[in-house]
Amino acid sequence: MIALGSDHGGFALKQEIKKFLDSRGIEYKDFGTYTEESCDYPQYAKLVCDAVVSGECEKGVLCCGTGIGISIAANKVKGIRAALCSDYFSAKYTRLHNDANVICMGGRTIGPGLALELVDVFLSTPFEGGRHQRRIDQITELENRG
Ligand code: RB5
Repeated sequence: MIALGSDHGGFALKQEIKKFLDSRGIEYKDFGTYTEESCDYPQYAKLVCDAVVSGECEKGVLCCGTGIGISIAANKVKGIRAALCSDYFSAKYTRLHNDANVICMGGRTIGPGLALELVDVFLSTPFEGGRHQRRIDQITELENRG
């Protein structure tokens, strides 16, 4: 199950992502927003990231206008490694090397064609482990410093 969320700036892109996931038969839960009315992206980052951390959803996809605000908010949630991506290589390597569990994109900065490629590679690429696990553990230590 994939958790989806956006503010108004990422709403249109989230609709495209839903169509793509439908076409692939990938299950998702849409945590909103559900209209283009102005709203606050941290609320949707929280809903999606809580679902990922609790295990209800295995990964999350978040969109706002630039992808920046919602990625900053997502990375405040303990256990979340959110990657703001606008190129294929980053979307692939953030899975291989960072074990990112949320991808963030900007609905006003990239088009749907590229965004769907990023979602596709992000969802289908495994974590490589090995030396990268040690680095993830160091990130977790930083997170636990309080
Ligand atoms: C909303 O206008 C916009 O600020 C938001 O979608 C996002 O780009 C913030 O980082």
